Amino acid sequence: MTHLRSEKYFYITTPIYYVNDVPHIGHAYTTVAADVLARYKRLEGYQVFFLTGTDEHGQKVERAAQERGVDPKAHCDEMVKRFQSLWKKLSISNTDFIRTTEGRHKKVVQMILQDLYDRGEIYQDNYDGWYCVPDERFWTEKDLIDGKCPDCLRPVIGISEKNYFFRMSKYQSWLIEQIEKNDRFILPPSRRNEILGFLRSPLEDLCISRPKKRLSWGIEIPFDPEYVTYVWFDALINYVSGIGYGSETSQFSNFWPEAIHLIGKDILTTHTVYWPTMLRAIGLTPPKTVFAHGWWTVEGKKMSKSLQNVVEPNRLVDTYGVDAVRYFLMREVPFGSDGDFSHAAMVHRINSDLANDLGNLFSRTLSMVIRYFGGSIPEPSSSKDVDQGLQQISERVIHQISKQMEDLAFNKALSSIWEIVSAANKYVDETAPWSLAKEEKQRPRLATVLYQALEAIRIIALLLAPFMPSTSEKMWSYLGLEENLWEQTLEENGEWGGLKPRRTVIQPAPLFPRIDSSKISEGA
Ligand code: MSP
Repeated sequence: MTHLRSEKYFYITTPIYYVNDVPHIGHAYTTVAADVLARYKRLEGYQVFFLTGTDEHGQKVERAAQERGVDPKAHCDEMVKRFQSLWKKLSISNTDFIRTTEGRHKKVVQMILQDLYDRGEIYQDNYDGWYCVPDERFWTEKDLIDGKCPDCLRPVIGISEKNYFFRMSKYQSWLIEQIEKNDRFILPPSRRNEILGFLRSPLEDLCISRPKKRLSWGIEIPFDPEYVTYVWFDALINYVSGIGYGSETSQFSNFWPEAIHLIGKDILTTHTVYWPTMLRAIGLTPPKTVFAHGWWTVEGKKMSKSLQNVVEPNRLVDTYGVDAVRYFLMREVPFGSDGDFSHAAMVHRINSDLANDLGNLFSRTLSMVIRYFGGSIPEPSSSKDVDQGLQQISERVIHQISKQMEDLAFNKALSSIWEIVSAANKYVDETAPWSLAKEEKQRPRLATVLYQALEAIRIIALLLAPFMPSTSEKMWSYLGLEENLWEQTLEENGEWGGLKPRRTVIQPAPLFPRIDSSKISEGA
């Protein structure tokens, strides 16, 4: 019988990454977090649209291409592959990948610009101010700190020219009201306060163009061919062009109201001030949530090319394996706080949480099923308090995780899963199946104990699937489960007792071999 499920929609995005450089751990972080949420929501039965992509216009990308002596589009075509192949390597399950140089995106940007211009939301004026190329942001004299960019403290360049402006200032009180009445619009709360603080000063209009004579690498302004679009105005629109604004009407109207943007804390203003006011002018609702995560340092230092300490995600995956990297990123720091990457911390997590706790539970349980029951999942009989205790922990955790994922508290969700891992390890220690196996009359009890332990493992595999997809797939198939893991839902398969007896488990290879930390070089 097929179930008639009411459709629930979920739309998750990452920032679109600049293609001036190769991807690093910071890019991997946001994308992995978005992937975990996307996979978790699928497990909850949602229709999910997960969008990522690349930000290909602007001065920064143009300069990077010039430095390499290649045409900007050729530069982008080459760099975009690095992102796409990294996402594959990190098991990212995005629905689509948008590049701002694609026709489908340009068309929407130009349509929006023309519409805003026709309705008087955009006007021409003189621009006298400053520009930070690395951040691609305009600043006024009073914004600068010691003559430098207030965000990144790098030098700015002076600009004096005629430009087009979006009437952002007129939306200031509307924006404040939106933020105040909806406490999930900007998360975490500290970021919400930061923006409310910023909005206590008058909001200015936003310069949205660059004359072609100064910068030609951008989307042409449809009502003035002498200009291209300011890269942030172009880039933010990817969130609507990527799900078919203006063309795929039903897809757009299903997903847009559910939009959650994951970003780093450095791009908070563009996403919570420019973007919602742009949307308001266009006649669209603001995204449901903008969540700003923290920044990673590396071995205690800021990551930078000059320090040569940029953590290259491909090498990390080659050294530790994809799921260990995903696990570390999600487990090590609360989403929203800053974190520090170190090889020592990574190895510690792998050896203690993955090899010891999870790996041991898995291999010893399956080995005993093979040894005592020839690999056939035994039929449980009447249960005791200790069995019910394990079941109750699992049920509580499933419930708890749903709230933690709603709050994007990935580290807490993982530590909740580890409550089942620990409880199951303790259960095996206490019930001591190896002793039960010595007495024939204890055979029904042995069957029950191993069934319960296997069932805990099945639930763990299901809950871990969003975080460690390949590991969960392995666990699933070693458990002899033939159903496709990615078609399971928590509602239908999360209940205790779902494991069917008499299927055959397979002798497992270690899920996570222990790492000898002395063999890991700092440069890995
Ligand atoms: N192109 C813009 C985003 C446009 S979205 C409409 C951009 N790109 S970026 O490539 O420079 O940065 C992308 C993301 O990487 C940002 O969210 C930024 O916070 C994140 N990170 C860059 N370095 C980081 C760390 N060291 N740690 C964590 N995240 C970091 O901005």
